[in-house]
Amino acid sequence: MTIVINMREGLDERKIKVAARLILEGKLVAFPTETVYGLGADALNENAVRRIFEAKGRPADNPLIIHIASISDLEKVAREVPEKAKLLAEKFWPGPLTLVLPKRREVPLVTTGGLDTVAVRMPSHPIALALIKASTPLAAPSANISGKPSPTSAEHVIDDFYGKIEGIIDGGETWIGVESTVIDVTEEPPVLLRPGGIPVEEIERVIGPVRIHPAVKGKNADLAKAPGMKYKHYAPNASVVVVEGEPEKRKKKIRELVEEYRERGYRVGVMATVEVEADEFYPLGKTPEEVARNLFKALRELDRRGVDVIIAEGVEERGIGLAVMNRLRKAAGYRVIRA
Ligand code: TXA
Ligand code: MG
Repeated sequence: MTIVINMREGLDERKIKVAARLILEGKLVAFPTETVYGLGADALNENAVRRIFEAKGRPADNPLIIHIASISDLEKVAREVPEKAKLLAEKFWPGPLTLVLPKRREVPLVTTGGLDTVAVRMPSHPIALALIKASTPLAAPSANISGKPSPTSAEHVIDDFYGKIEGIIDGGETWIGVESTVIDVTEEPPVLLRPGGIPVEEIERVIGPVRIHPAVKGKNADLAKAPGMKYKHYAPNASVVVVEGEPEKRKKKIRELVEEYRERGYRVGVMATVEVEADEFYPLGKTPEEVARNLFKALRELDRRGVDVIIAEGVEERGIGLAVMNRLRKAAGYRVIRA
């Protein structure tokens, strides 16, 4: 049985108590964050965390992020906090930044996928913060079935988990649309493991040079420290093709591809920043921030409309564009065409 808790009109402390009680009983509750919806459980309760992996169909070696609501929570999960981590937390928390730190013994290995490090972030969404404050630090991956596009609305979570988890808090649409930036601060220089809501350029302004893990751009690499990069990700049912290159050339190439696929009898969907004629079209918006916000919604929506192929327009790999391209290339299984 799943209860859907409506907080579209904003934070409701009485309803938060209901959700917090479920969490403290070891149940699963999905909740909105500023990035995407999370599938939450008590981070220190091994059995509850195990159920997250089961519900998502997530490989056991892909660790979860622990969500905290105050700096004092950090001491409950991290054994030590390097100076650069402190600087980043001060600057970007609450917000879409996840720090990988040495883990405390109290954090179950189930939560960290067997690693002796722990990923921690303090979200800025008022509902997420209130839920954590009323319960406990929450282990929460994105609330999608493993391999599917991440959820940016409660409807997406309902599609994937209705009847499988105890609670879903509906807080409307999330506003960043791609997940948090993950940075490993146990290494020197720190390593960017996943680009996300906070651009790496902004991080480097605070702590100096950061190494970009090769897996971020899809290169073969040692994935022991970036387990999240090993698996299929963000993929809708339709096949996805990404078109990169200069804006004018991209547009032309997308038009050509639409024709080619249609001639072969496919129903073609396009998601792009400029209107393109196709069987289905989903506008991504103009700015890189809008594209990030619309990305997962577009993939899910075009799937819902039953297209066979999705042609997605790439963006410049700057700022949040790095996160957008990382998600798009994975959604496409690295089928990338340069215009
Ligand atoms: O914005 C977000 O980060 C969302 C919301 C719900 O907070 N959460 C999210 O969680 O995206 P998830 O589980 O979908 O992605 C977590 C990523 C994975 O790539 C995982 O491999 C990585 O963080 N990660 C977690 N713990 C790690 C660790 N100890 N070392 C290296 N990578 C870790
Ligand atoms: Mg995820």
